[in-house]
Amino acid sequence: MAEASIQPLTVTLKVNGRDYTVTVEPRWTLADVLRHQLGLTGTHVGCEQGVCGACTVLVDGEPARSCLMFAVQMEGHEIVTIEGLTPEAGLSPLQEAFHRHHALQCGFCTPGMLVTATALLNQGKPLTEETVREALSGNLCRCTGYQFIVDAVMDAQGGK
Ligand code: FES
Ligand code: FES
Repeated sequence: MAEASIQPLTVTLKVNGRDYTVTVEPRWTLADVLRHQLGLTGTHVGCEQGVCGACTVLVDGEPARSCLMFAVQMEGHEIVTIEGLTPEAGLSPLQEAFHRHHALQCGFCTPGMLVTATALLNQGKPLTEETVREALSGNLCRCTGYQFIVDAVMDAQGGK
């Protein structure tokens, strides 16, 4: 029996303030399109099932798992990746804090951690260690033991 053909669709995605018009298959995830079509490889893919948080991006300002979203759903939404949170020269204050506190080892989880922490800091509320841990509870790290990540986010309060 002949396989049904899947019609690619052309969509325009707003990523890091820039419009990208891409042709995608409906089954392609946002994570894969960011990485393979747009070359934004700072978004990492770990579990591909919404568990590890490595693929976290901001969608309309909220952290979201890009491995669980189809790229074709994203038209009309504002997507920000780790590249969009990184100044052209140097590091953001949050990235500096991660560096200062040794909040990464292999670095695989780090983009997702930074994206989630940015959304938390953007709320502008005073943070406690508990609220930081709660916010980061969906981002898994196999290396650091989390304490230095929490310390870095607490340190970045006010500076972002
Ligand atoms: S790759 Fe998306 S949550 Fe793990
Ligand atoms: S630094 Fe290696 S997984 Fe977090």
